[in-house]
Amino acid sequence: MKIGFLGGTGPEGKGLALRFAMAGHEIYIGSRDVTKSQEVSSELIGKLETILPEAPKIHGETNKNSCLYSEIIFITVPYNAQYQLITDLKKEINEQIVVNTVVPMSFENGKPSIIDVKEGSAAEQVQTLIPSTRVISAFHNVSAVELSKPNAIIEGDVVICGEDKEAKEIIMNLTKTINNLRPVDGGDLTNSSIVENITILLLTINKKYKTRTNIQIKGIT
Ligand SMILES: NC(=O)c1ccc[n+]([C@@H]2O[C@H](COP(=O)([O-])OP(=O)(O)OC[C@H]3O[C@@H](n4cnc5c(N)ncnc54)[C@H](OP(=O)(O)O)[C@@H]3O)[C@@H](O)[C@H]2O)c1
Repeated sequence: MKIGFLGGTGPEGKGLALRFAMAGHEIYIGSRDVTKSQEVSSELIGKLETILPEAPKIHGETNKNSCLYSEIIFITVPYNAQYQLITDLKKEINEQIVVNTVVPMSFENGKPSIIDVKEGSAAEQVQTLIPSTRVISAFHNVSAVELSKPNAIIEGDVVICGEDKEAKEIIMNLTKTINNLRPVDGGDLTNSSIVENITILLLTINKKYKTRTNIQIKGIT
């Protein structure tokens, strides 16, 4: 599939882009600055060229072109950048599925805390901004650092929320293209705030135990 990343130059966009490129998808790294996204695309291609049998298709683009060229758009910007960015790109986002990875959080003195979102969650904010778009929320609890290591085995679940059944199934199947990650249907977008907020807990645990945690739901066969 053709997958674009808004703010794909940060750890989250780069990590997911790397994993999806490894699975054979075509990637558009989006940025406010095309020089920066081209540097990132070269960096990712360099990282993968000795691992993959064929050169991965990774392009450095503007955020706008990444929207226009993609079937699936991942939002991988900080929460405080999301509102303006999506408002500016409304015209470019139509039929694509939008996947929101954004955790509304702030860091003060090294301590993560939740930012209250009027719409309920970061994902619902995007849905409110573009009501006709199919918004799915996913990947909040997976460490970008682990995603960025091509050989790291990441075990855990990706809880996926969203109203549109077809879009959710597409993103669940896309998740399965990353080795060992299991998609779990988390219901409607109204559950997204729960999943987004778990990340704050995981970051707190990570700091305490000096590790990188993920979540796993027990009892699903
Ligand atoms: N890092 C993780 O482990 C992780 C895990 C799960 C979820 N997430 C979520 O993923 C998102 C991205 O995380 P990250 O660590 O990759 O963030 P980041 O490095 O702080 O930012 C990612 C990119 O966003 C763009 N950006 C920053 N400020 C912007 C603004 N005001 N307007 C437009 N674009 C802006 C920048 O790209 P350009 O300068 O190239 O435009 C930047 O490289 C966050 O919402 C985070 O909560 C992160």
